[in-house]
Amino acid sequence: MRSTLLSLTILSLNLLAVLSQEDPELPEIPDAPDGDIDIIIDFNTGIVDGIPLPGDLADLNFTTSTSLTIAQILMLNTTAQGGTDLFNSNDLFHPCYKWTLITPILTELFKNNQTQECNDNARAAVRAGFHDAGTWSRKLAARNITQGGADGSLYLFDEAKTRAENRGLETITEILGQLARQYQLSVADMFQFAAAHATVTCPLGPRMRTFVGRPEATSASPDGLLPSSNDDANTQIELFRDKGIGQLDLVALVGAHSVSKQRHVDESRPNTSQDSTPGVWDTEFYGNTLNSDSEPLSSNMTTFPSDKALSQHPSLVKEWNGYVARQNDWVEHFSRAYLRLSLVGVQNIQKMVECTNALPLHRSTFP
Ligand code: HEM
Repeated sequence: MRSTLLSLTILSLNLLAVLSQEDPELPEIPDAPDGDIDIIIDFNTGIVDGIPLPGDLADLNFTTSTSLTIAQILMLNTTAQGGTDLFNSNDLFHPCYKWTLITPILTELFKNNQTQECNDNARAAVRAGFHDAGTWSRKLAARNITQGGADGSLYLFDEAKTRAENRGLETITEILGQLARQYQLSVADMFQFAAAHATVTCPLGPRMRTFVGRPEATSASPDGLLPSSNDDANTQIELFRDKGIGQLDLVALVGAHSVSKQRHVDESRPNTSQDSTPGVWDTEFYGNTLNSDSEPLSSNMTTFPSDKALSQHPSLVKEWNGYVARQNDWVEHFSRAYLRLSLVGVQNIQKMVECTNALPLHRSTFP
């Protein structure tokens, strides 16, 4: 096990008291795995890896048990993965009830029944969750341009159809948008729930703790805030920092390319994957990217220059290498980083509800 470096700067007695208080309404949550933590957390300010808590959590005034839970996850105080609880209530008006009806529909959509692996719809749904959420900027928000983030605008304002950066997401966006409309669910939540569902539908994928209650977009998001496969590492780090996502979270998040295939990076080799096992949520991607210069990759694979650049950046090398054979560490970090991504630009986190128990169960084995 790598050395654990958990740097707690000035501890706020107030916040620590809140984080450790026993709330009878909080579900039983297992302790966060004490894996390899190179992340600096300041409990006094809620700043993790140099980044404040998102949206209306930033002032550390937690008014609901759910918002406290989210803060606990983001500050590594509890795990970012759900256990084995399944939704079990007859209350048709429970905020999670309709999501239990969506789950079998998404399983049908995302799973290859022959191989039991996840399929092209699942890859697209994970990417769609990112592209819907990733369109918000702290710098723009400071200038009162607050649109964007996880708000459903990918569907609601036709961004999947009209923006080049979203090429390939047209079909999944239409399916998810219409499903949300049919069940009268928030389109913004649908993209994030579907991304979480697709992730756990991939064998070995984590059952990420998943929250709903996002308002829908009332206007399009700002353009040009998503990364390109030709971006160097510093450009990507800055771009994500401006969304409220730190560089170590970025390293965990790009691991989603574990299940990815490209069509537009090298158009002469369509459908080539970014690792050797694109139907499985494993860490092959990290090793395959590192080895893409020294070992000839299979004809089915293409490494993105942007991923290569991150893998070689001096301040990320240790994290990248650390994930090569550490599935448990990666999926926990991915789940936490994805929670942050799924909340980008959301300003009513205090009112959100946890519906992790509406997701399928994690699969640690497959044929
Ligand atoms: C950090 C910078 C990132 C860059 C530069 C990037 C770039 C790309 C590119 C160019 C593609 C291929 C699109 C195509 O040719 O069809 C792709 C696919 C994909 N990306 Fe990313 N990405 C990034 C981060 C992320 C993140 C944070 C996630 C999710 C958490 C993600 C999930 C995916 C998935 C699942 C696919 C496969 C889509 C499919 O096969 O249909 N990416 N990405």
